[in-house]
Amino acid sequence: MKTQIAIIGAGPSGLLLGALLHKLGIEHIILERQTPEYVLGRIRAGVLEQTTVDLLDEAGVSQRLHREGLPHDGYDLCFDGRRHRIDLQALTGKQVTVYGQTEVTHDLMDARSAAGLNTIYSAVNVKPHGFDGNQPWVTYEHNGQTHTIQCDFIVGCDGYHGPSRASIPQEILNTYEKVYPFGWLGILADVPPVHHELIYANHDRGFALCSMRSETRVRYYVQCSLDDKVEDWSDEAFWAEFKRRLPEDTAAKVITGPSFEKSIAPLRSFVTEPMRFGRMFLCGDAAHIVPPTGAKGLNLAASDVGILYGALAEYYKGNSHGIDHYSQRALARVWKAERFSWWFTSLMHRFPETGDFGRKMQTAELDYLVQSEAAMKVMAENYVGLPF
Ligand code: APR
Ligand code: PHB
Repeated sequence: MKTQIAIIGAGPSGLLLGALLHKLGIEHIILERQTPEYVLGRIRAGVLEQTTVDLLDEAGVSQRLHREGLPHDGYDLCFDGRRHRIDLQALTGKQVTVYGQTEVTHDLMDARSAAGLNTIYSAVNVKPHGFDGNQPWVTYEHNGQTHTIQCDFIVGCDGYHGPSRASIPQEILNTYEKVYPFGWLGILADVPPVHHELIYANHDRGFALCSMRSETRVRYYVQCSLDDKVEDWSDEAFWAEFKRRLPEDTAAKVITGPSFEKSIAPLRSFVTEPMRFGRMFLCGDAAHIVPPTGAKGLNLAASDVGILYGALAEYYKGNSHGIDHYSQRALARVWKAERFSWWFTSLMHRFPETGDFGRKMQTAELDYLVQSEAAMKVMAENYVGLPF
């Protein structure tokens, strides 16, 4: 088989890149290890920056997003039993859209099937080859047969554990990592949200987040220990802990109900440099991970794709400037989002090792933040997303 771009991974990065390349008439194939059902079963964050929405518009996959997505003009920060609104609209003139990553993935998959585009699911042993030369290729097995795809470029959209980054010689990779000493226990439940905007709460017992997927479905989280097992958290225990971390008047308004999804996610910051190796590019979680505080993961994946697809469009018109600068441009944005996600995580969570002094520093910073227009503007500008 032959194509222009071989994409490894059909998560949001791979699917969005595929949709945008299709608009440009650039041929591509996507290879995915899992089934479509498995991919759709993964629950991730749900806050889209305007630039992500713009790319979904450009890809022609945003009709449902505009119908069902919830535009949010602000969110609340909560500490010392008080809530303070960060007015994104007043501070930046921008808003964000609350729409689950699962729904984005669904819309991209539907558009792909409708356009008859080629996604090979359940592909086994996918491996990129020859990307240090002029004619790279990808091999994989499917239904017991081995196949080869010759291509101009390989794009690794295969997440943190995928084969793309793993196939790069270790000596030319620079990786930077921070693992946080706690996780997030998250639930989905079909009850109305406690508030029409998100609430990020810093509490002595740990962080809590009130998020949502719609006006009738909530996504709530509490910071938990990495030793916790999801089976040990009954719904009753979750609701009790969640409410304890909110101000009394807010907790009193929480409507509880049975959860239909419950999971624990560890928190990590991770970056690989560079993001291009000859004729292979990395996009999204294959190159970087952020802790979920601030919901930057999907937005960063989208901005990588936005930069790369523009660069590939230029390349096929005879100009390789864009692909030569992809890594540098993408990383400039990645590191700023890494910084914001790390800072927001550090500000809102209970860190066992920093003790009472660390708690006092957090409260002082939060107190300053909500009284300083300048500080709130810095936060808001990062939350709505930096330009690229
Ligand atoms: N062969 C083929 N596909 C693979 C392989 C492999 N060996 N290994 C992994 N994949 C697939 C995964 O099954 C997954 O569907 O690559 C895809 C990677 O998708 P994501 O992990 O969702 O990463 P990405 O598309 O970059 O999306 C980034 O998703 O992980 C979240 O928080 C992250 O919101 C961010 C966004
Ligand atoms: C979510 O809805 O899952 C979510 C929202 C905001 C965050 C993180 C996760 O900062």
